[in-house]
Amino acid sequence: MSTRQSGSGGGGRLAGKAALVTGGASGIGLATAQRFVAEGARVAITDRDEERGAEAARGIGPEAFFVRHDVTREDDWAEAMRECVSRLGAVDILVNSAGIFRFGTVEHTTLEEWRQTIAVNLDGTFLGCREAVRAMRERGGAIVNLSSVSGLVGDPDNAAYDASKGGVRLLTKSVALYCARQGYGIRCNSVHPGGIDTPMVRSYFSDRPDPAAEEREWLRHSAIGRLGRPEEIASLILYLASDEADFVTGAEFTIDGGSTAA
Ligand SMILES: NC(=O)c1ccc[n+]([C@@H]2O[C@H](COP(=O)([O-])OP(=O)(O)OC[C@H]3O[C@@H](n4cnc5c(N)ncnc54)[C@H](O)[C@@H]3O)[C@@H](O)[C@H]2O)c1
Repeated sequence: MSTRQSGSGGGGRLAGKAALVTGGASGIGLATAQRFVAEGARVAITDRDEERGAEAARGIGPEAFFVRHDVTREDDWAEAMRECVSRLGAVDILVNSAGIFRFGTVEHTTLEEWRQTIAVNLDGTFLGCREAVRAMRERGGAIVNLSSVSGLVGDPDNAAYDASKGGVRLLTKSVALYCARQGYGIRCNSVHPGGIDTPMVRSYFSDRPDPAAEEREWLRHSAIGRLGRPEEIASLILYLASDEADFVTGAEFTIDGGSTAA
């Protein structure tokens, strides 16, 4: 199941690999793109936020470039993949990190909020997996999907988000099993973070009536007693994207400071 390299390049755990990271302008996606380049990959950062995406790529340097990309749009996916293949020669790794969080119980979620959450988090991940399988099936590759602890356990306040992330968890297994059956050499795994200190979580806190109390409530659920850092998630994604994880597919990886252990 070894993913072949798309170019030469120096050392590192991803030496010579070409990667596409969605949601790469911010948070976990950005930390992942930075880490991938540090480990020898060349990276297409994609995001719907053009300004922050372009700035992120500039900050990383010549081994990264930015592609504007709304993951809910089929035509954007085709274009992002084309751009990645034309500039990097291949797509060896896809990380589906683009996502949105919506607070709302089942009783108070509008159909529009529901559809928007599913569109970005689940439709976007489905389109990414489909396009990646088509692009990788000749030479193999690795797909890493960002689910969440919200894809493992329920929360009364996050009906749409939980549903979208639960969908990502099982979509991942379906993709992994299909690719294994076809002998494509493509691995697909899901990552399930707990609370991570990113702009997504900071803006969620600041939208609550008492942000400090909300943060304290989150920390109460963490055995380790702090939010995670995006770099800590990037380390796990790096492992799953690399050839070190050649025997790992269809698996789910919880990284949550112990919040779901009890
Ligand atoms: N931060 C956490 O605590 C946490 C926990 C579990 C799972 N996750 C998941 O990790 C992933 C990354 O989250 P983060 O915390 O880094 O969030 P973030 O808000 O910092 O970054 C998400 C990025 O996705 C982009 N994005 C949103 N909608 C998009 C679309 N339609 N098309 C393209 N890009 C789009 C945003 O512009 C942003 O740059 C998400 O899927 C999130 O659900 C985060």
